[in-house]
Amino acid sequence: MLGNFSYYNPTKLYFGSESLNYLNNELPKYGKNVLLVYGGGSIKKNGIYDEIINILKANNKNVFEDYGVMPNPTIEKLYEGCRRLLDAKADLILAVGGGSVVDYAKALSVSAYSKEDPWQKYYIEFKEPDNKIVPVGVVLTMVGTGSEMNGGAVITNPKENLKIGHVFGEDVFPKFAILNPKYTYSVPHYQMIAGIFDTMSHILEQYLSGDDDNTSDYIMEGLMRSLIHSSLIAVKEPENYEARSNIMWIATWALNTLVAKGKPTDWEVHMIGQAIGAVTNATHGMTLSAVSIPYYKLIMPYGLKQFAKLGRNVFNIAKKDDNEAAKLAIDSLNKWMKEIGVVLNISELGVTRSMFDKIVDATFLNESGYKKLTRKDIYAILEDSL
Ligand code: NZQ
Ligand code: ZN
Repeated sequence: MLGNFSYYNPTKLYFGSESLNYLNNELPKYGKNVLLVYGGGSIKKNGIYDEIINILKANNKNVFEDYGVMPNPTIEKLYEGCRRLLDAKADLILAVGGGSVVDYAKALSVSAYSKEDPWQKYYIEFKEPDNKIVPVGVVLTMVGTGSEMNGGAVITNPKENLKIGHVFGEDVFPKFAILNPKYTYSVPHYQMIAGIFDTMSHILEQYLSGDDDNTSDYIMEGLMRSLIHSSLIAVKEPENYEARSNIMWIATWALNTLVAKGKPTDWEVHMIGQAIGAVTNATHGMTLSAVSIPYYKLIMPYGLKQFAKLGRNVFNIAKKDDNEAAKLAIDSLNKWMKEIGVVLNISELGVTRSMFDKIVDATFLNESGYKKLTRKDIYAILEDSL
């Protein structure tokens, strides 16, 4: 454990099948005006909307709504949300949905009172908020991003072919998050497996970096073993509470900042995935699964020991030779990806060679992974992922 760091996470979690009751404990802490933020309507079909409205009414709140938050929320939607939030004079933003809704709610919380244009300020210049931040509470309905307990807010600007994440600080983390695994039962199969892979990718982005003996790695190995085990059950039995609750808890811990401690972390798969997302609007988790294996094959020689450790400690590979163990780690990851059924090539997401230039232009090249990629490397990964 070689890193220097501080650790603090201000989000209070309520977990389990009865967790929505705790909304009654949280609501009195905020003023009367609540802006309920949600997506395209899944919460109306599965009954979560009615449950929440009843609790808000019982707590004498004035409820305002901002709905229609799309997967991969856009800057245009954010501008609209800012106007709604100001009209409502909201004291609390209650985000009910998946990562898109929660990310959007955080972006809204820092944008509504900003004098500068939020896209320019937060996503181009990466400035920090210097204005009023409206508190955010979360009821999570889809698992994968970890947005419920972090400061991340990814916004897409389709006109500029850019999808950019700003990782905000503690003031922007949700104040509380309610996690009921049963709420995830109605998530469509495609979204469920995309979320499972997103979670795996978050862990790998942090695990596959550095070469010291690091406690964070041991925690991540446990999370990956549990995720592999539970995901194989969940794809066959989506209403298996044990599996779905484990997956929900793993996703939160995969990206609530803890396991990054003391690690350089990589995030290049996410950089490529976000660029593909910006150009195609494809589902986030699938943009990652489609490029992961070619990326890992490319960087494996530069991080051989850690790939070998992944093979031995997560995939039970007994080989003593690092080369063999590392190669089998990637093969085992690929096998698991096939078993759960995620997308394994970018053509399936609508990517064609004619889009490569745009995707490469939109890809940030990070410096903390095992190999600092060049634009040529990104072209090679895309070619190998077709
Ligand atoms: O809009 P509704 O009707 O609610 O439908 C959604 C949406 O179509 C549906 N859904 C969610 N819960 C459901 C449900 N359908 C039925 N029953 C339920 N209980 O699922 C679809 C996808 O939802 P979305 O929120 O888009 O998925 P996800 O949670 O994967 O979020 C993706 C967004 O998060 C960003 C991604 O880039 C993407 O924009 N990320 C955020 C991160 C963070 N904050 O740290 C990190 C991630 O790496 C990621 O980049
Ligand atoms: Zn992700």
